[in-house]
Order: sequence, then structure tokens, then C-alpha cells
Amino acid sequence: MNEIFEAIKKASVEIQKIIDVGDTGKSENENSTGDTQLKLDIASDIVIEKIFATIPSIKAIVSEEQEAIVPLNEDGEYLIAYDPLDGSSLVDVNLSVGSIYGIYKNDFTAQNIIAAVYVVFGPRVEMVVAADNCVKMYKLFNNSFEYIQDITLNEKGTITATGSTQMCWPDHHRILVNKMFKDGYYLRYSGGMVPDLHQILLKGGGLFSYPGTTDKPKGKLRQLFEVFPFALTYEFAGGAASDGSKRALDVETTHIHDTTPCFFGSKDEINKVLEVYKENV
Ligand code: F6P
Repeated sequence: MNEIFEAIKKASVEIQKIIDVGDTGKSENENSTGDTQLKLDIASDIVIEKIFATIPSIKAIVSEEQEAIVPLNEDGEYLIAYDPLDGSSLVDVNLSVGSIYGIYKNDFTAQNIIAAVYVVFGPRVEMVVAADNCVKMYKLFNNSFEYIQDITLNEKGTITATGSTQMCWPDHHRILVNKMFKDGYYLRYSGGMVPDLHQILLKGGGLFSYPGTTDKPKGKLRQLFEVFPFALTYEFAGGAASDGSKRALDVETTHIHDTTPCFFGSKDEINKVLEVYKENV
């Protein structure tokens, strides 16, 4: 799998340049979830696909920005689902964004995810690799990524980040969030999944949630490109991830662009989600 990690490093150096100088405007296309694609999304997607196409061990890829799976090498061993530039609409206000990669074997299902990588493009560029039961962070120095530290979550954290608008939250979600504020949690939400989840991982713990809402009962975040890679990362870091009633990595996928409600955190916070949801749904 090392060649895949090296390919992601190479793509990230290119994507950083695109973020630095690229046009932040909209393109004329929509992705399969109906979001208008930004020119930055398309440019990043092209960079990744080009680099992955040179790696013999990759059997097929699927991008959040494309409708269908792209076959690469019949004899390849790995399948990769990726979101080239998550949160790209935050680039024009100079907030952090990120790329997310899920590495699967056999098929694109939660049971078959074996590794995950995300890259945060912020004041610094950092790459986090979840593989072999541990989570390692690297930082970009002069076009090359250097190992910084392993990441592990505490049993309980201090911050909470929750998506959508309160107008669309179901009551049980409102109860959960209010309880966390009463318990002293700090609100930390930028609107970019990658930096928001990265912050929780590096600050030792807390909760990121994107619930099922009245306008999006199955949540907003996509299983293959966003939820499963972070679920694996949180589990390998000693935390947990859920869909509100069961482990996120037990969620079934029927279509590559399926979404699911999702919760990532330290064990204590995920237990709190399960308790409050069970008592109030
Ligand atoms: O999937 C795109 C995304 O921008 C995520 O990075 C982020 O967590 C989420 O959407 C924010 O959604 P909302 O604006 O509804 O809170």
C-alpha cells in the first residue's frame, strides 16, 4: 500500500498549488449529490486520477466528484474512494479544507475498508494515515512529508462540532447538543469536515456530529468518501464512530453516493450519543 500513500503525497503537493493560485469560482457542472462543483474541485480531482492511474496495485477508483467507478487495473488489489477537496467553498474565505481517501479491498463497503488517509490544507499541510491499527501524522516541509507523531484519543474530550442548521435538527439531537453545552463542552465548528475532525483528534477528543435532519433524513455526509474513512481513523485512534444507533462501520451501502447520519468522537461522547438517541428517538 506504500505506493498509494506516496501517490497521495504527490497529489497533495499539486493540490496545495491549486489551492494557492487556482480560481475559486464555480464551474458549470453539478456532482452526483447535486452540489455545484467548483473549479478547484475539478482541478484537484484531475490531479488525483492522473496520479492513481500510474499505480498498478489500484484496481478501481471512485471520486465524490464523479458519477461512476473508474476501473484502472484488472489485477490491482485496492479500491480507492476519495473526496478530492472537501469543504472547497471555504477556500475563498481562507479557511482550512482537506482531501479524504478510503482504501478498500474487494468492494466499496464499510466491512472492506482497510486504511484511510486525509490531508488538511490549512496554515500548514498535514497528512494523517490510518492503517494497521494506528494513526500517524506527517507534515509537509519543502515538498516532502515528514513523520510528526502518532495520534491517540483520550477517553473523553472537551469540544463539540455539529453540522446543518438548528432549524432542521430533530429534537433528540437538540437534547444531545444542549446536554453537552450544559456539561461544559466548547463549540468548535468551521464547516469543513476535515479540519473539524482533525481538531478533535489532535485536541484529544470530543464529538463531531452530522445528524439526520428534517431536510436530509439520511444526513449529508457520504459513506464511502467521508464517513467510513473517518470512522476507521477514529477507531484506530482509540475512539469510536456511530450512525446514532450502531457502529458506523456496520452501515450498509447500496449506492456509491449513499449518505448516513454520523458521529465521531472519543468513546465517552459516542456512548453519550447512543444513550441520548436511544432514550429520545
Ligand atoms: O461535505 C461537505 C461539507 O462541507 C463538510 O466538509 C462539512 O462537514 C459539511 O459539508 C458542512 O455542512 P453544513 O454546512 O450543512 O453544516
